[in-house]
Amino acid sequence: MLVNIALQTTNPPTGDLIIPVVQTELSSRLTELAQQLPIPLAVLQRDFKADAKEIFTLYSAEGAKTYLLGMGADPKGMDWLRVFRRFFFDQKAKLSAQVAIDLTQFEGDVAENVVVGVRWGGYDLKLYQTDKPDVPVFFSESGQLTLRVSPEVEPVAQEALARAEAIAQTQRQILDLMNAPANYKQPQTLADWAQASGKQYGYTVTVLDKAELERQKLGALLSVSQGSDVPPVLIITEYKPADSSSVLTVGLVGKGVTFDTGGVSIKASSNMHLMKSDMGGAAAVLGTVEVAAKLKLPIHVVGIVPATENAIDGRSTKPGDVITSYIGKTIEIIDTDAEGRVILADGLGYMVRHYSPDVLIDLATLTGSVIAALGYHAAGLFTANDALAGKLIDAANQTGEHLWRLPIWDAYTEDIKSDVADVKNFSGKPVAGAISAAKFLEVFTENHPAWAHLDIAGMAFADTEFGSQKNATGFGIRLLTSYLQTLIAESR
Ligand code: BES
Ligand code: MN
Ligand code: ZN
Repeated sequence: MLVNIALQTTNPPTGDLIIPVVQTELSSRLTELAQQLPIPLAVLQRDFKADAKEIFTLYSAEGAKTYLLGMGADPKGMDWLRVFRRFFFDQKAKLSAQVAIDLTQFEGDVAENVVVGVRWGGYDLKLYQTDKPDVPVFFSESGQLTLRVSPEVEPVAQEALARAEAIAQTQRQILDLMNAPANYKQPQTLADWAQASGKQYGYTVTVLDKAELERQKLGALLSVSQGSDVPPVLIITEYKPADSSSVLTVGLVGKGVTFDTGGVSIKASSNMHLMKSDMGGAAAVLGTVEVAAKLKLPIHVVGIVPATENAIDGRSTKPGDVITSYIGKTIEIIDTDAEGRVILADGLGYMVRHYSPDVLIDLATLTGSVIAALGYHAAGLFTANDALAGKLIDAANQTGEHLWRLPIWDAYTEDIKSDVADVKNFSGKPVAGAISAAKFLEVFTENHPAWAHLDIAGMAFADTEFGSQKNATGFGIRLLTSYLQTLIAESR
C-alpha cells in the first residue's frame, strides 16, 4: 500500500482520471463534461445519473480511462470516504500506476476523506492467506495519485492531505490489530504495539505487567485475567505537546479484552469467534493517541488500556466471588461475562487517581444490550454532561461514526446494588443492560464532572461491504480526533 499521494494545481499527468460528480446542478455540469471529454451530451445524460458510487467509464484511443464517479446529492464528509473506499476497493486491479482525481470543483477539505477512502480501499482482510494475490500496481511503490485542486484551496487541501495520511496509516494498523485472532494477539501484543508507536512518534508508554498490577492492587483487572494463561497488562500512553502549559488533559480509557469466552458464565459457541474483537475500545484509544502525537495536536492526551483475556480455567473467577478494585470499592461478580466493566473499573480508577483529566472518555465493546437497542448504526453515548454530549455528537455527525445518547439516571442504580459488596457487576435482569453497565462504570469515575462512556459493541466489528464476515471498522479514531480538534479550536 505504498502509493504516493500528492497535490497539484495544474493539469493531471498521463494515466487514469477520476472526476467526482455531485447531483446538484447536474445538467450544467454534464454539459461541461460532455465538451471536455468529449462525448455526446445525450449519451452522458442517459447513462450517468451521478448516484452515489455510480461509475461511468470512458476510454481514450490510447487506453487511458476517465471515470465519472457519482457522489449523490450533497455528499457529507463520510460520503466522500465511502464512495472512494468502494471505488478503489473494486477497481484497484484495473487502475494504472498513475491516477488523478479532479477535485477542482470542490472545497479543499474534501481531500481528507478522499485520501482516507483511497488508502482504505487498498485494505484487504487476507492477513493470513498464504496464496497472496499480486499487489495491484496502483497500490504498489510505483503507484502515484495526484489530487488536482484549485489554487485557492491548495493550503487547506495540503493540511487535509497530511491529516488524512496520518489517520489512514494509523487506522490500517488498528484494523489489523482488530482483525487479528486471539492466537496472534495477546495483551502484551497491544502493549508492544503501543511501545513501538510511542518510540516512533515521541510519546510516553508505560506498561504495568502482572507483578506490578499485583503490587499496585489492580484487583478488578487481575480477577478477570485469572482464568487465562496469558498475563494481563495495563498500558498507559501519554502524549504531551511541546508547550503543555494551559492545555486541557483528555483521559481516554479503552476496553482491551483480547478474547472474551465469557469465563465460567461461558458464552454460546455460535458467535464466540467474534470475541477476538473485544478490544475495540483499546484500538480506538491507542489509535487516537498515536494520531494526536503524529499531528502534534496542542492537547494533552492520556490513553489507558486494561488488557486481558477473559478465559476459562480452574482458577477463573466464579460467579458470586467478591473482588476489590483499584480504588478500593468491592465488586460482587454475578456474571463473569460482564468482564468489560470490571477491567474498566480499574482503568477508570487508575486514570482518575493518577491524571485527574479535564475530560474523561471511555470506549468499550461492552454490551449486547446496546446492539439490541441501536443495532449496528450507532454507538450508545452515556454522560450526564450535556455540553460534552453535544460536542461528541457533533464530532460523530461529522465523521459519520454515529452516537445516540441513552439515559444514565440514578433510578438505574438499583440494578447494580449488591447485598454483600459495594456494587455488583450485573443486575440479573434482561432489561436496560447497556444502562446498568454505564451506571457501574460511573462508580469508578469518582463523580468525574465530564465523563462520557461510549458503548461501541455494535460498531467496532461489523458487517461491511468488504468481507463476508464481520470485520473491523476502525470506529472511534476519526471521531475522537475530530472531538480533540473541536476542543482545541474552542480553547484558542
Ligand atoms: N464483549 C461482550 C459484549 C459484546 C457482545 C460485544 C456482542 C460485541 C458483540 C461483553 O463482555 C459481554 O459479554 N456482555 C454481556 C454482559 C451480560 C452478561 C451482563 C452481554 O451483553 O451479554
Ligand atoms: Mn463478556
Ligand atoms: Zn467482553
